[in-house]
Amino acid sequence: MCGIVGYIGKKNAAPILLDGLKRLEYRGYDSAGIALLDGEIIMHKKKGKVNDLEKVIPEESLAPSIGIGHTRWATHGEPNDTNAHPHMNEAEDIAIIHNGIIENYASIKKELINKGHTFKSDTDTEVLVHLISEIWKKTECDFETAVRLALKEVDGTYGLCAISKKEPGKLICARNGSPLILGVGENEYVIGSDASPIVAYTRKVIYLSDGEMAILTQDGYSVKTIDNIEMPKAIENLTFSIAAIEKAGFPHFMLKEIFEQPEAIHNSMRGRALLNDCEIKLGGISEHIERLKNAKRILICACGTSWHSGLVGEYLIEEFARIPVEVEYASEFRYRSPIIDENDVVIAISQSGETADTLAAIREAKKRGALVMGICNVVGSSIARETDCGIYTHAGPEIGVASTKAFTAQVTVLALLAIKLSKGRTLSEAEACLFIDELLNVPDKIRKILKLNDQILKLAKLFKDSKNFLYLGRGFNFPVSLEGALKLKEISYIHAEGYPAAEMKHGPIALIDENMPVVFIATRDKSYQKIVSNIEEVRSRKGRVIAIASEGDQEIDKLAEFVIRIPNGSGPSSPLLTVIPLQLLAYHIAVLRGCNVDQPRNLAKSVTVE
Ligand code: G6P
Repeated sequence: MCGIVGYIGKKNAAPILLDGLKRLEYRGYDSAGIALLDGEIIMHKKKGKVNDLEKVIPEESLAPSIGIGHTRWATHGEPNDTNAHPHMNEAEDIAIIHNGIIENYASIKKELINKGHTFKSDTDTEVLVHLISEIWKKTECDFETAVRLALKEVDGTYGLCAISKKEPGKLICARNGSPLILGVGENEYVIGSDASPIVAYTRKVIYLSDGEMAILTQDGYSVKTIDNIEMPKAIENLTFSIAAIEKAGFPHFMLKEIFEQPEAIHNSMRGRALLNDCEIKLGGISEHIERLKNAKRILICACGTSWHSGLVGEYLIEEFARIPVEVEYASEFRYRSPIIDENDVVIAISQSGETADTLAAIREAKKRGALVMGICNVVGSSIARETDCGIYTHAGPEIGVASTKAFTAQVTVLALLAIKLSKGRTLSEAEACLFIDELLNVPDKIRKILKLNDQILKLAKLFKDSKNFLYLGRGFNFPVSLEGALKLKEISYIHAEGYPAAEMKHGPIALIDENMPVVFIATRDKSYQKIVSNIEEVRSRKGRVIAIASEGDQEIDKLAEFVIRIPNGSGPSSPLLTVIPLQLLAYHIAVLRGCNVDQPRNLAKSVTVE
């Protein structure tokens, strides 16, 4: 939540900041702002999108070569021009941007008001800039020390950047709980909440850790702890290209990412699913594989779509590996004093690797002695670094707020893990080979499903004005029905619910009438006949049945008003296929309703507040 960008170098900072903010906009889009240092601090900020900010920035302010920028997802204070970042002190000689929450802001604010400070905004962030200026004045120290001492007084999380006209050649950043990456260029540095604003300028990056500050000038940088201890930091290389974070001719990132799924899934299996040897190789967990196989219990913690992939993981691991699995919302897990010990394995699933609740859950699990494994997409992210071992999904950058390719890549990795944990124990060599083969065929099958795009668009036109939707599935496809409903509600604002098909009789059936579209995942698997009975139940109450069915299934035509036929996939491949039409249906309905699918209202891609 909230995107941060900073630049110091020889180029004009403003276009670099604005470009960076557009790339970070998925993290929040309530308001945006920049501050540039050109003798004075020149600040522009505006409620709304980065495009709205761009309109109010006059051309002549495009010269300074140091600046900071912010795109906001509001926590404290409504989204308006005043609450937008940056924030400055009364003397307007310090400006700050911040991602995170200052938990003790109220008490600090009170003290500062007593000392004569006046506040303009309702944000927690503004206390930071007043606190820095107060400490600077009182102790007559330098800028860096003032920031450091101020940070020692605050509780909470921050990723922040600060500039001051009193020390104009300097940009100071600090991290505690909110991500910050430093791009190291030739006589220039770009700082970002993630690598997307950096990659156009340099591929060399330093991942700041919690409790660290970076002090940047045009000529160099140093990284220290907030206790003023120099930290030697490794420079790492970014592996993705600028093309990976552009729309490549698609109208929206979400559609691009839906269409990227064959490649993303292929990448998450590459070098791992080895059919000739009938082997799964997962280097990131190899040292811990025995502990994983012998786990008394596996606990999966995640949020949002990643929680749905965790549910698929539960079905897969329990069915194949026969290890008990529980799936928890990370936010619930961390606050309910979970019973967990060193015989448990906790798997944290997160696209961003930065979700605050998931991060806190793994810290809790580690404290209690469990082995903690991560399944993350973003390389070098906090969760990836804090877990004992893990598997990257390698889906490539996901920009659309509604997750698509990250979900299928997570499910793919979970399927590989399930096979790995089962082979030679609860799964025979032949069965393992069969499932590996199934998985390897998924990318081609998805390519076939993507050809149904026009058919699904037509369907979307028929249902775009519906008020409610119900999604029903069984087994592996129950979590897919949850995911289908989530996709629709988050981007089209139509109320939708996912349910296990049989459970419909215990509540949702009361909602069914001639206006209720019911999407059934009715592929030919062991629960097909049961699903058919559930379809009959909906039909007899005049519900409008849309079926995701298997190629060649003629029987379903007699039951469903609309049928989307997809290639058949058994076992672990099934949820990877059935989710694709649901993603496309949600996408087209949202576009037809005029919604901003890449940046749906109130949501953010990376939820770094609790
Ligand atoms: C937000 C995003 C979702 C995502 C969830 C968990 O709500 O909008 O798309 O599934 O966070 O994020 P994570 O990065 O941990 O997978």
